Amino acid sequence: MSEPMLTIKNLTKTYQDSPEQPKILADLNLTVDREEFLCILGPSGCGKTTLLRCIAGFENFEGEILVNGVSRKEPGSDRIMVFQTFEQLFPWKTVEGNITWPLKKTGMTDKTERHRCAMEALAKVKLADYAHYYPHQLSGGMKQRVAIARALALKSEIILMDEPFAALDALTRRELQNELLTLSAAEHRTILFVTHNIQEAVILGTRNIVLQKGGKIIFDEKNTLPKPSTPSSPGFAEVWQRMRDAIYANENAE
Ligand SMILES: Nc1ncnc2c1ncn2[C@@H]1O[C@H](COP(=O)(O)OP(=O)(O)O)[C@@H](O)[C@H]1O
Ligand SMILES: [Mg+2]
Repeated sequence: MSEPMLTIKNLTKTYQDSPEQPKILADLNLTVDREEFLCILGPSGCGKTTLLRCIAGFENFEGEILVNGVSRKEPGSDRIMVFQTFEQLFPWKTVEGNITWPLKKTGMTDKTERHRCAMEALAKVKLADYAHYYPHQLSGGMKQRVAIARALALKSEIILMDEPFAALDALTRRELQNELLTLSAAEHRTILFVTHNIQEAVILGTRNIVLQKGGKIIFDEKNTLPKPSTPSSPGFAEVWQRMRDAIYANENAE
């Protein structure tokens, strides 16, 4: 039997300078299957970003995080993070340079190959014509597309997305959701996607979880709605309602 893509065992995270809440995450256990699109919801401050940062290897923690059955404590090219902020690109590098730089850093020595990979990834996010642009010449949506292209080019098996569409206008957000849905079906990656938007989770997730403060998982459900789905699809409202109830119960519990 093959190992799960990601296994989190008894993850406990404390920040030195957060004494009033000693354990941000306490004994969190989670297994994520290959090619799952896991949406993570929960109130502000419940530890969603902290969870992704621990998986990315940006934080020290107690417990164990295994990728393909191998313990990971440091960053590695098997995991990559896409952030909410539009400022995640190097402003002094072109769009192409933003994608080729991590490829070079992770050992792709052939410049022609780096260029080919970058252009392939940019075509997937419909930005092939913008390779020579600088980030300041792009809209917010285009910058997020570049960040996604960077993750695709790097071939990371796990893509960690921390509210990547939260700062976009509604139309662009819907456009990027559709594109991500198509990409996730074609790319065979495992995606962990943090969002505050229940509708976004129902549209994108193949599995949705809700965290409570302290990182306790209070809702964990496969999302079997045929994709693409819209709020008027049969069953959509029911899934949305169950998640809302979980989040609401969570708020009342505080
Ligand atoms: N670097 C840090 N140092 C101290 N406390 C932190 C740090 N990062 C986050 N926290 C605290 O950890 C808790 C969880 O934060 P975070 O993971 O960002 O939550 P979420 O992403 O769910 O909104 C919050 O109480 C926050 O103040
Ligand atoms: Mg956060």
